[in-house]
Amino acid sequence: MRCVIAFFAAGLSILAVFGCTDNNSGKDKLENTTIKVAFLGSLTGNTSSFSKNTLLGVEMALKEARQNGLNIELIIKNNAGRAEKAIENMKAIVKDNEIYAVLGEVSSTMSLTVAPIAQQAGLPMITPTSTNPRVTEVGNYIFRICFIDPFQGFVMAKFAREHLNLNKVAVLKDRQSDYSKGLAEFFTNTFKKLEGDVVMDEVYKSGDRDFRVQLEQIRKFQPEAIFLPGYYRDVAMIARQARKMGIQAQLLGGDGWDSDKLFEIGRDAVNGGYFSNHFALEKNDEPAQRFIQAFREQYQRNPDGLAARGYDATKILIHALKSSKILSREGLREQLAEIKNFPGVTGPTSINQNRNAEKPAVVVKVEGPMNRYITTISPTN
Ligand code: PHE
Repeated sequence: MRCVIAFFAAGLSILAVFGCTDNNSGKDKLENTTIKVAFLGSLTGNTSSFSKNTLLGVEMALKEARQNGLNIELIIKNNAGRAEKAIENMKAIVKDNEIYAVLGEVSSTMSLTVAPIAQQAGLPMITPTSTNPRVTEVGNYIFRICFIDPFQGFVMAKFAREHLNLNKVAVLKDRQSDYSKGLAEFFTNTFKKLEGDVVMDEVYKSGDRDFRVQLEQIRKFQPEAIFLPGYYRDVAMIARQARKMGIQAQLLGGDGWDSDKLFEIGRDAVNGGYFSNHFALEKNDEPAQRFIQAFREQYQRNPDGLAARGYDATKILIHALKSSKILSREGLREQLAEIKNFPGVTGPTSINQNRNAEKPAVVVKVEGPMNRYITTISPTN
């Protein structure tokens, strides 16, 4: 109806006709429709700080969208760190036809659990944070806006060899986590390629309290560093036990360390450790600085890498929703595949043909409750 009126009122028949046929484009098509987006994470459980912080970023981006006239309803589902719950949640999400995309999961293991359901139903899934390469291999509806673990492993191996001049390292990984096992392998490959020695490779299970047996084994080889590709709680516990046993090796890790809780639990034991990440507060480009300031205003605290990625993933999703010609899950999928050089707060983001984002990583050093920016390593370095 609006089109017909425009047609006569304008009197510019050709233009008006084109205007009518395209009444699905831009913001207009989003304004009178209910658009729901789901967030799938583990808001309780062992690694809840990851999902909680990711959600803060998601909600901030949606609040900004609302201020710009777009009303997107967020359906929040809590997996509580349990695979069965995640499956149940994802099944409910794909059934709701008003949901156009799902943001999540946060951990790779969970993303791998739920991605086949989204893929089969043809629902775009965008994980802000899961870095294991297999996640997006599930199919063409599965996207991520962060780098992947082969790159993160490369970054830390290169940093350990060339920046810290380390020759001899041990690896201690979580045997039940796809993230941890993958990252351990990718780190090891590059470290060896750079002619370093990985003298010991040990495993634990997330939630274990006693790591003395593994640490005793590691101690025998006198490594200069221990690579801990795990999540903050386990890492902090391992670090405390290692220091108590008199092991002074340098500690290294990946983005799973990114939580205030790392220092809260680990204290002096984790101080001086280095880990690769997606974001640092010292990032001084315009999008990052604007985000940090707005985040502080909204939440009275600093954002971490998870919040930053939650924010970027949501912004990218909104951008794709706006640019899809037809509002449908498939239309959205096509637009997500086209994302190029999106000015994210975690850096310019392009989705490559494998639906992964290629972007630089930062290395930070744990210094009390703050992490200090040390260097940036790019995929082309
Ligand atoms: N990268 C982790 C994974 O894939 C998830 C994670 C991201 C954890 C950021 C902590 C911080 O499992």
